[in-house]
Amino acid sequence: MAKPRWRDDLRAVLVMTRIAIVQAGSALYDTSSSLEKLEKLTREAAANGAKLVLFPEAFLGGYPKLNDFGIVLGTRSAEGREEFRRYFNSAIEEGGSECVQLENLSRELQICLVVGVVERAKSTLYCSVFFFSHEQGFLGKHRKLMPTALERCIWGQGDGSTMSVFNTDVGRIGAAICWENYMPLYRTHLYSKEVQIYLAPTVDDRDVWLSTMRTIALEGRCYVLSACQFLRSAAYPEDHPLRKKFGDDEILIRGGSCAVDPMGRILVEPEFGVETIRYAEIDLDEIPRGKFDLDVVGHYTRPDIFQLSVNESPQLSVCTKNDRKSTDFIQD
Ligand SMILES: *[C@@H]1O[C@H](CO)[C@@H](O)[C@H](O)[C@H]1NC(C)=O
Repeated sequence: MAKPRWRDDLRAVLVMTRIAIVQAGSALYDTSSSLEKLEKLTREAAANGAKLVLFPEAFLGGYPKLNDFGIVLGTRSAEGREEFRRYFNSAIEEGGSECVQLENLSRELQICLVVGVVERAKSTLYCSVFFFSHEQGFLGKHRKLMPTALERCIWGQGDGSTMSVFNTDVGRIGAAICWENYMPLYRTHLYSKEVQIYLAPTVDDRDVWLSTMRTIALEGRCYVLSACQFLRSAAYPEDHPLRKKFGDDEILIRGGSCAVDPMGRILVEPEFGVETIRYAEIDLDEIPRGKFDLDVVGHYTRPDIFQLSVNESPQLSVCTKNDRKSTDFIQD
């Protein structure tokens, strides 16, 4: 992968790139209408000049907040299994038709598109981020390494093979999903891949989230952009028990999307209780200015004392070995 090229024209031209952070939720168990909403919001952001559009965690596939999937310690209910079946069917696949639609949208609008999705791979779901660029199409994905609490009952764990930072025309982009942002070794890995635009799709709507994002921006001397869902109970289908319990207007996830520059300055303040698209203007030249006195994977490290080792190889639970050549098979 190509290294970032720093512009050497100093202040000759100030090139700012506009990034859109979408704060919205999607229709649970209705992937086609969620995809329509994604397309509408992406078109709006692109029309406003955004070159990268970021969606929150699990936007496609959904984040069924407050749902217990019928789980108590030691047993699972039949209703919970049916709930999971519906959720399973709402997930999308790498290379599937939704994925192709996102690729097409990114190409048509000449933007990068980064979307939190629930990914189905065979019979397991993952909380993933899919990355698209207009130049290269589907760039790849990141699967959440460590789902939090009850999430572990509905999502599998990603392995070390989906922790890339991608080179795009807006900069080098990588993602940490929700509480992966509290995994300091994963952050260090992203810094070592020279992440310039650190993306944090989330559903964490706490006040302290902003402090976390500021710390990461300062620590990594990179731009940090976080998109959080804004979700009302009306996102559940009308026949769903949680819709009946909460009605239409209960706020399940209140937002709080934000953006911070490499010196920790807030570019986008969190706004709670609304669906919105927020915009940040970024200038990659701020990164070397910031790294001047702090590079936590370079001049500000002590590898003689501390080192991080990372296993990026895909972990396969079934390895099939077949040494026979195709000509060994008898055709009949
Ligand atoms: C995506 O774009 C290709 C090429 O333009 C087109 O053939 C295809 O039908 C599109 N697919 C979808 C799902 O939009």
